[in-house]
Amino acid sequence: MHYDTIIANGTVVNADRTFRADVAIKGEKIARIGKGLVRTMNPNGTRIIDAKGCYVIPGGVDVHVHLALPFCGTTSSDDYNTGTRAAARGGVTTVVDFAIPYGDESLHKAVDNWMAKAEGKACVDYTFHVAVTKWNKHKHEMESIVKRGLPTFKQFMIYEREGWQADDAAIFGALEKVRELDGMLLIHAESSRVLDELIARHHNDAEMKKLGARLHGITRPNYIEAEAIQRAITWAEVTGGRLYIVHMSTKEGTELVKAAHKRGLKNIFAETCAQYLVLDDSVFGKEDGHLYACCPQLKKRPDQARLWKGLKDDTVCAVSTDTCTFTRQQKAMWQGDWTKIPMGMPGLETLLPIVYTHGVLKKRLSINEFVNKCCTTPAQIMGLGQRKGVIKAGYDADLAVIHPTKKIKVDPKQMETNADWSPFEGWPLAGFARTTLCRGRVICENYKFCGQNGWGRFLPRKSAGHL
Ligand code: URP
Ligand code: ZN
Ligand code: ZN
Repeated sequence: MHYDTIIANGTVVNADRTFRADVAIKGEKIARIGKGLVRTMNPNGTRIIDAKGCYVIPGGVDVHVHLALPFCGTTSSDDYNTGTRAAARGGVTTVVDFAIPYGDESLHKAVDNWMAKAEGKACVDYTFHVAVTKWNKHKHEMESIVKRGLPTFKQFMIYEREGWQADDAAIFGALEKVRELDGMLLIHAESSRVLDELIARHHNDAEMKKLGARLHGITRPNYIEAEAIQRAITWAEVTGGRLYIVHMSTKEGTELVKAAHKRGLKNIFAETCAQYLVLDDSVFGKEDGHLYACCPQLKKRPDQARLWKGLKDDTVCAVSTDTCTFTRQQKAMWQGDWTKIPMGMPGLETLLPIVYTHGVLKKRLSINEFVNKCCTTPAQIMGLGQRKGVIKAGYDADLAVIHPTKKIKVDPKQMETNADWSPFEGWPLAGFARTTLCRGRVICENYKFCGQNGWGRFLPRKSAGHL
């Protein structure tokens, strides 16, 4: 058999094992995995990529990104061009974005809008979660949205100002609906009424002058997330609907998920994001501390430690980024008022390097656990497990070649993201992709993007929440 590409001499890492092998690719698929394929196969015309001394891992699957999202009075500045170029350079080959209706739009219109943002631009594969923001209207569309290949829905417990907020009745109803449709409900869990009260109490000139961006942290104590997670778990427990807590950031939240698992609940899942594992709220005291405002905000070191432990013991099933990039100029909209900071950070390009460097190299995770949390489980839980997240014959040839120790300093000038800053600027990180392939095509080589707009394809899915 003739192969188009062979990744030779590398150490292949899957979630369940690590082994020396060559990976042969035909067309868009992994065709064969074995030793000495370059020697035994006719290599004429086959592209050989030498991965000697490197890990060959499945392409990263970032199940939480917001590209070109209108939000906080502006639009997130990484779109499907720069955002997916950043993904390629970071070794991420699949992204899952959120199609969010504007105003009274239907769910189908929101999906059409997001399809249009991605088509012709995306350099890696993509799909969407669909945000149910007007329950009484949108509930009638959920079945046909699943038929369109989109079985994951999202509700926000906050963001009243954006018109996105869902109340408890809507969350309860949506969980019943996803149970019926074999889907899953993603929840942004923060307790909005108490959060609004805390913001109102501190929203005065004297405190803003004195505390600046620190107020972003001060007004969102851990119980704001914990109470909301508790409530969401209660509704999932009584309805039996599959619940996935997005961007979990607190130790209390992690304990609540753990307790649910201990009670035997198999329908409760939680992700965290790379930033909550390595950054804490001391950054808000920096001169440019407002740049780090995201939602939920960065917490404290004990929260980081609990989240790492949660990854290890499977309380936390995935690491994503919640990429929602705003440039320095956009962030400057705050003018000293923390409630006006566009919330979110760049992250796609640094997901694998952060988790590899601070997880694997610091011995918090094994190399297999790293692959499991950044590639295999995110693919599987979102209904992509038949083709993504594993290095196996018949699977999409989505691969990243990473050097085990070579560190590169994070420098926004060298990056593909449209951000002119990085929360990790100056950090030396290993785990950047030396080479990335998406469905057999090399999209990053020698740490440089070399992909093509429009290569990325929409990924329809049947169901979600099966691990
Ligand atoms: O700060 C963030 N995370 N912005 C995006 C919206 C969200 O809540 O995920
Ligand atoms: Zn959110
Ligand atoms: Zn988000």
